[in-house]
Amino acid sequence: MSSNVLCLLFACTAPPRPDESTPIMNPRPDDAFDEDTTERLVIRRFRAEDAATLAAYRSDPAVARYQSWDIPFSQAQARSFIEGLQTANPDTPGEWFQFAVVEAATGLHIGDLAACVDADDSRLATIGITMATAAQGQGYASEAAAWLLDYLLLDRRKHRVTADCDTRNSNAVALLEHLRMRREGHHLQSAWWKGEWVDEYVYAILAKEWLERRSPG
Ligand SMILES: CC(C)(COP(=O)(O)OP(=O)(O)OC[C@H]1O[C@@H](n2cnc3c(N)ncnc32)[C@H](O)[C@@H]1OP(=O)(O)O)[C@@H](O)C(=O)NCCC(=O)NCCS
Repeated sequence: MSSNVLCLLFACTAPPRPDESTPIMNPRPDDAFDEDTTERLVIRRFRAEDAATLAAYRSDPAVARYQSWDIPFSQAQARSFIEGLQTANPDTPGEWFQFAVVEAATGLHIGDLAACVDADDSRLATIGITMATAAQGQGYASEAAAWLLDYLLLDRRKHRVTADCDTRNSNAVALLEHLRMRREGHHLQSAWWKGEWVDEYVYAILAKEWLERRSPG
């Protein structure tokens, strides 16, 4: 099909404009972020001493199964990953930022949250979450992910947050549905992970939906 025909089909429109009703409230990276707390968790920047726990849970086959990295994930890789985060800030367009998740009662590093703000429109973000096996099934992931949605959609005024997961990852599906994110797509063979094409679900939530869901009525 010629580009002229394509142009006619789409009425020669320019690429869709961002929703101008949502002002870009935080056009700069969040260089002030240090740490925050939830009922049972501390969400903070990664520190050098987290390398051993990061390497341990990333090397767990059950944790890595539906994730992009290969195992074992060495302590050297963990140190280099953490070093890379020392000069990074959350809410930097086009970059992933990882937050360490710590159990407040014990100070134990139990997982991480990830967020990537869209390079072209900083009102859009994608999230991810990983918890060590021993910290799963206790609602910690839900609590941490709810903090991340608060941070992105309320504090940083994002318009929309998405999350992708392997369709076989039933724990991630349960978590995203528990957060009442909406399954908007089933992408066929959209990611090449660990030697095979995998299908992914795409979940999303708008800021106004999150606001209604976290404080119903
Ligand atoms: C995806 C993942 C983060 C989900 O973690 P999780 O621990 O299963 O999620 P939650 O913290 O929400 O725990 C939910 C379970 O804890 C139970 N629970 C116990 N105490 C709870 C509490 N106080 N509050 C809420 N839920 C609680 C819930 O009933 C729920 O069990 P159910 O699913 O049988 O109903 C985790 O499986 C993981 O890290 N997987 C490996 C990495 C990965 O694949 N990440 C996804 C990338 S998209």
